[in-house]
Amino acid sequence: VRLTVPALHDDAIVLRPPEAGDAAAIAAAVQDPDIPRFTMVPSPYTVDDAAAYIERSAAAWRSGAAAPFVIVDAATGTLLGSIGLHDLGVATGPAHVGYWVAAEARGRGVATRALRLVARWALEDLALDRLEVQVFVENERSQRVAARAGFTRDGIRAVVGHPTGRDELIGYSMGPTPGSDRGVR
Ligand SMILES: CC(C)(COP(=O)(O)OP(=O)(O)OC[C@H]1O[C@@H](n2cnc3c(N)ncnc32)[C@H](O)[C@@H]1OP(=O)(O)O)[C@@H](O)C(=O)NCCC(=O)NCCS
Repeated sequence: VRLTVPALHDDAIVLRPPEAGDAAAIAAAVQDPDIPRFTMVPSPYTVDDAAAYIERSAAAWRSGAAAPFVIVDAATGTLLGSIGLHDLGVATGPAHVGYWVAAEARGRGVATRALRLVARWALEDLALDRLEVQVFVENERSQRVAARAGFTRDGIRAVVGHPTGRDELIGYSMGPTPGSDRGVR
């Protein structure tokens, strides 16, 4: 996939690729235990790990393999979280979206807003056929985020290799919205 960095924002948040200056804020945010518990972000996690992640993110944007963003406050630029579109170069199977929000920024719609922005970009501008979010069965909050952002719950599937031993994910998916301008541009 050939990627151009999109201008994704609403009146509360801006999505942009991670930059070197984000390393300290990313490393601080992912110390919250729910992030390694419910995502593939490893623990322990240092500022050096964040710096390496930021370099991998830049490479992913260049190769088109993935589109990782940080979520920042539109008014202040403060880092609120992370959201990424993954598996873009995979020949079979859908692209996946993963996200986390810093503990102090939760409960005010940040994840829902970010997921809506990424989904619209992926389906309308990148013209992907299908997007998935995979949420652990225990993660009810993220299940509500996916549903609120317009994803459909498909069912439970097995996962192997999560460091916590968690092994059941719920798949949420979204396809192009009927009546969108998809295909017209
Ligand atoms: C799951 C997670 C991303 C949710 O982030 P968030 O920004 O708090 O999510 P939202 O604010 O969009 O939604 C959470 C709550 O805020 C409420 N909310 C408050 N104001 C809101 C607004 N303006 N718009 C939407 N929701 C709002 C929602 O009603 C929702 O309540 P509910 O969870 O009781 O239904 C966050 O808890 C997290 O990072 N968890 C750890 C990592 C993780 O689980 N990642 C996802 C893996 S699939």
